[in-house]
Amino acid sequence: MDNIYSTSKVHPQPNISWSLEPELTEIMASSRSYKTLLYAWEGWHNASGVPLKNYYPSFVELSNKASRADGFQDTGDDWRSWYETETFRQDLEEIYKTIEPLYLNLHAFVRRQLYNQYGPKYINLKGPIPAHLLGNMWAQTWNNIYDMMIPFPDKPNIDVTDEMVRQGYNATHMFRVAEEFFTSLGLERMPEEFWEGSMLVKPQGREVVCHASAWDFYNRKDFRIKQCTTVTMEQLFTVHHEMGHIQYYLQYKDKPVGFRRGANPGFHEAIGDVLSLSVSTPKHLETINLLESVTSDIETDTNYLLKMALEKIAFLPFGYLIDLWRWDVFSGKTPPERYNADWWYLRTKYQGICPPTRRTEEHFDAGAKYHIPGNTPYIRYFVSFILQFQFHEKLCEAARHTGPLHTCDIYRSAEAGAILKKVLQAGSSESWPVVLQDAIGTDKLNASSLMKYFEPIIDWLKKQNVNETLGWPDFNWVPPMPEGYPEDIEPGDVSTHLEVWTAGPSVRHH
Ligand SMILES: *[C@@H]1O[C@H](CO)[C@@H](O)[C@H](O)[C@H]1NC(C)=O
Ligand SMILES: [Zn+2]
Repeated sequence: MDNIYSTSKVHPQPNISWSLEPELTEIMASSRSYKTLLYAWEGWHNASGVPLKNYYPSFVELSNKASRADGFQDTGDDWRSWYETETFRQDLEEIYKTIEPLYLNLHAFVRRQLYNQYGPKYINLKGPIPAHLLGNMWAQTWNNIYDMMIPFPDKPNIDVTDEMVRQGYNATHMFRVAEEFFTSLGLERMPEEFWEGSMLVKPQGREVVCHASAWDFYNRKDFRIKQCTTVTMEQLFTVHHEMGHIQYYLQYKDKPVGFRRGANPGFHEAIGDVLSLSVSTPKHLETINLLESVTSDIETDTNYLLKMALEKIAFLPFGYLIDLWRWDVFSGKTPPERYNADWWYLRTKYQGICPPTRRTEEHFDAGAKYHIPGNTPYIRYFVSFILQFQFHEKLCEAARHTGPLHTCDIYRSAEAGAILKKVLQAGSSESWPVVLQDAIGTDKLNASSLMKYFEPIIDWLKKQNVNETLGWPDFNWVPPMPEGYPEDIEPGDVSTHLEVWTAGPSVRHH
């Protein structure tokens, strides 16, 4: 399944071939043509998902058999046990309910801007949003359509992709920039073996799994990242994300093998993202010369928080629903003949999106997302997106930050680094509530830091939304097919910022 997913391609013409990374990802991020986006979306979902459909039911059966042999009801039960919490499912649902109003406000605002761009034919202001218009193949983060959403476009551009390209950034440099943030906190440098053994750019002439991942070889010296890095701001955050995994490996490497894991899987996913919350601030971008003199004012702040909401708030329902679907698949509640129907029910219920073309049980759209064929559990990312704000708030306090939470940059704070280091060094030698209590003074996952961080933008969004319908009462609405599709698609040039140089269990990017 991994192989099918990693080698699937879309062929807009017999002699043109688009891989997920970089071409399709780039089209989803930057095309503003309804038809081109539809072509890339449909092409990928058919090419990767459909061939997987035959394999997935027997995979589920085998996986359940193994979990039952270990005393679990099914594989979902097995995976949930890693969180050591009897009430895990209820706790998550409660957290989701807390943040849902934020999501509904973001969704309504984004839908209105898309309406302005694509018009009433394709956007129903009381319906779900077609899934291919949000800047990402899975509509999981929406930061790539920030340019259509900017509240105050006259302010400096806090999406620094163009500036990175202008300055000649390359993959190695991006990893060095990330490493320097870690060492500024008093954490570890990447060892020589890391630079020698990692694959930081997509190689030519052979197929690789491009989905970014970080690997612990469990020999206390070999740690590597595999990433088809391109020069974008989003990828710079992915670099920090993956390096967060490596930093965890380095910090717990002297623990016995059984403790060389995160306190729970969400902890592992949160570390690099915590750093990115500082890296992305206009203040920090200025420090590393990616932005020119930023004066902190309310308009720049609003721009920044909206962009962060497109990345962090937009992700929450997606991060939540993937394993809601998969837990039901493993338990048998969702049988193979309802794989796609239940998938789209959850995608609409939680994300408020709809498929842009008619989908049936011939299709297997869950399979078009890496973590399904790759069999990486997903709820860890939801946990991480809540937890990283709890860490951020505590580290900012340690760094003696004053002012609103979203303006905090923990760069060069030894005090913040010391807190993080303790969490990392503990690995899984204590249960996660104990590790969390030690680090930040609470033993519960909760959304209050996230709510505090986004409070100003939620207030702003509510003002923009006074005349909007929150939610999608037209639940089953789907957009019409465009006329002349797909005959008049222009494959055109795909520019990708891609630079080509000759250049165990693992954890992955969301
Ligand atoms: C990448 O950028 C760094 C720093 O600007 C530079 O020293 C290095 O030569 C570049 N590497 C390649 C392969 O171009
Ligand atoms: Zn990861």
